[in-house]
Amino acid sequence: MSQVNVGLCGLGTVGTGVVKLLQNHAEEIKHKVGSEINIKKILVHDIDKKRDVSIDREWLTNDPEELVNNPEVDIIIEVMGGIEDTNVLLEKAISNKKHIVTANKDLMAVHGQKLLRLAKENQCDILYDASVAGGIPIIRSLTEGLASDRIQKIMGIVNGTTNYILTKMTDDELAFEPVLKEAQELGFAEADPTSDVDGLDAARKMTLLANLAFKMEIGLDDVEVSGIRTISQEDITFATSLGYTIKLIGIASIHNGKAEVTVEPTLLPKDHPLALVKNEFNAVYVYGEAVGETMFYGPGAGSMPTATAVVSDLMDVVKNTRLGITGNEYVTPQYEKQLKENDEKYMQYFIRMEVDDTAGTFQKITNVFTDENVSFAKILQLPSDKEKMAEIVMVTHKISKQQLLNSRENLKDLDVVNRIISYYRVDGED
Ligand code: NAP
Ligand code: HSE
Repeated sequence: MSQVNVGLCGLGTVGTGVVKLLQNHAEEIKHKVGSEINIKKILVHDIDKKRDVSIDREWLTNDPEELVNNPEVDIIIEVMGGIEDTNVLLEKAISNKKHIVTANKDLMAVHGQKLLRLAKENQCDILYDASVAGGIPIIRSLTEGLASDRIQKIMGIVNGTTNYILTKMTDDELAFEPVLKEAQELGFAEADPTSDVDGLDAARKMTLLANLAFKMEIGLDDVEVSGIRTISQEDITFATSLGYTIKLIGIASIHNGKAEVTVEPTLLPKDHPLALVKNEFNAVYVYGEAVGETMFYGPGAGSMPTATAVVSDLMDVVKNTRLGITGNEYVTPQYEKQLKENDEKYMQYFIRMEVDDTAGTFQKITNVFTDENVSFAKILQLPSDKEKMAEIVMVTHKISKQQLLNSRENLKDLDVVNRIISYYRVDGED
């Protein structure tokens, strides 16, 4: 193949980066893959929009058929987003024997397994490294560099927007809303940032990583998700005074063949490697049975970092095509899905509550925890703004989620507990 023709769906933040990279690194790319890569068509909404990159106007179209049914197009790069319509479009492209490169985690988390199977049936590649952690080659690392190992735990900051917000709230004591607006202006928040702040974007990415790491079909519904909206400046202050930093952490772990995938605000010791990841940066820690600890760090979003992953996938497709080995990605899960129950999920917890500032309060509270066999690593009490009230923060030793839920229910029944203000997972202390 002296020439490869690409149909590019989308010319926004990522699509523009892809075009720039293909133009600016054309010689190096050709040298590495042995073919010239041409853009044949670009699908956009608005053909007349001013573009931030030099393109031939003839390439632009708003008719998807000009890409997916075009016999001259070999590979589709999908960087336009969307789930259902985009799925239909890619199914059609694959049925027409076109290889796919996508950055679309929303699509892959929902329809990825089906698309992978269809691609295999048609001997096509579908590569999606850019869909998790932008410029960090984490999917590539799990499928290639760490392929020989058994992955036991993945723990990551995989959403740049929430990491940016939490960094600004912690380091500069800024409020949530204006920082979110800033993240949108900087281009890493989703068009609808709900999926960022409520943890769904991170959950989609963790689903993709868990599937690859544990070789079982874990769906989005199997992920326990909570976002960062409820984190207050007071939570951050208490966490800081106990030596922690709050981050939105995705965790996928497996023990005795049973998996658990969560995305939730998590307190990490302030010198933990993930606690030191600031602003929109992403980082993924992977623990493998043989390799031990590895950590991947870099830009999780943005035009050029994400384009780097997209174009590297594109180059792999070109190489696979030349070698005649397309459509060989792993698609069949090796194991039946098994998920941990609440009494099999062990972690530390930070619990903050408002209580009566009277004699005997502490004893009543500790009795509840003693009944559930819960012991504490740290306890802090401070006066509350409210008269005759105090605030207590407790950090437990490792307990099961069931122990936490039982204790929480029983605390609600205590007359001395006015309210449980917040509770968060604590990780990284062992
Ligand atoms: P974006 O800036 O909003 O660009 C989307 C592009 O797709 C635009 O060019 C738009 O056309 C075109 N488009 C969208 N829907 C279309 C439709 N139905 N028909 C024709 N054209 C359509 O999006 P983005 O930030 O580049 O993100 C693209 C994908 O990459 C998403 O799946 C996203 O989740 C993923 N991703 C993004 C980042 C990031 O840093 N931005 C990082 C990793 C992954 P017009 O230009 O005419 O409006
Ligand atoms: N909105 C996403 C983030 C973009 O903030 O990480 C990259 O997937």
